[in-house]
Amino acid sequence: MRRGFFLTFEGLDGSGKTTHLRLLAEALERQGLPVLVTRQPGDTALGERIRALLLDAKTTDIAPMTEVALMFADRAQSIREIIAPALEAGKIVLCDRFTDSTEAYQGGGRGLGSDAVLALHRVLCGNLQPDLTILLLPPLETSLARARSRSSGQQTGGDTDRFEREKRTFHEKVFAKYREISARETTRVVVIEDDLSVEVVQKRIAQVVAAHGIDPRALMS
Ligand code: TMP
Repeated sequence: MRRGFFLTFEGLDGSGKTTHLRLLAEALERQGLPVLVTRQPGDTALGERIRALLLDAKTTDIAPMTEVALMFADRAQSIREIIAPALEAGKIVLCDRFTDSTEAYQGGGRGLGSDAVLALHRVLCGNLQPDLTILLLPPLETSLARARSRSSGQQTGGDTDRFEREKRTFHEKVFAKYREISARETTRVVVIEDDLSVEVVQKRIAQVVAAHGIDPRALMS
């Protein structure tokens, strides 16, 4: 039986989700809370290989159905190896992307629709739902600009991954699908939309998390 807390972070590339996940994890760890940080795709040995295939700009001609299948292959492995055991051990699992990403990118961006993605989630992931999802959805322009400046920076050697190379219309569809998800999943998904400073977003996240009984004191002051 699950005893921990499952928290996912969602948003477009450049939305700031990875930064905020890290800040929250550090704050919770400082309090001595049992935290496990993971990401999708990736983190299992198999998942890192799947991630490399999926993100590599040299992967061309991949059918949308193949792409969605690989995302779920990664997720099924991650649930079995990482997420389920951590939840069973009572940990707070912070996961960078989960099935909302597949619904937004493959369901929305690639046009596969929500129904197919949600059906796959039921079959392949036992319909595991996060207890809370923080969706960072600053204006599309902000996310695109941040992702662009990051990929032209030294960190990546100027490389952009396969998704970052997509046209603006793809990202518009992803953005719209995230909006749709947040309108549907009103109890699970908390959306932070405005173009706000890191500090302000951090505080909002801390308040949301505290309302779920997890108190990242270091971020609240
Ligand atoms: P990351 O850069 O946030 O680690 O994510 C890797 C890329 O994979 C990102 O552009 C979004 C994409 N992605 C999907 O298209 N579908 C999914 O289900 C997941 C988890 C990620």
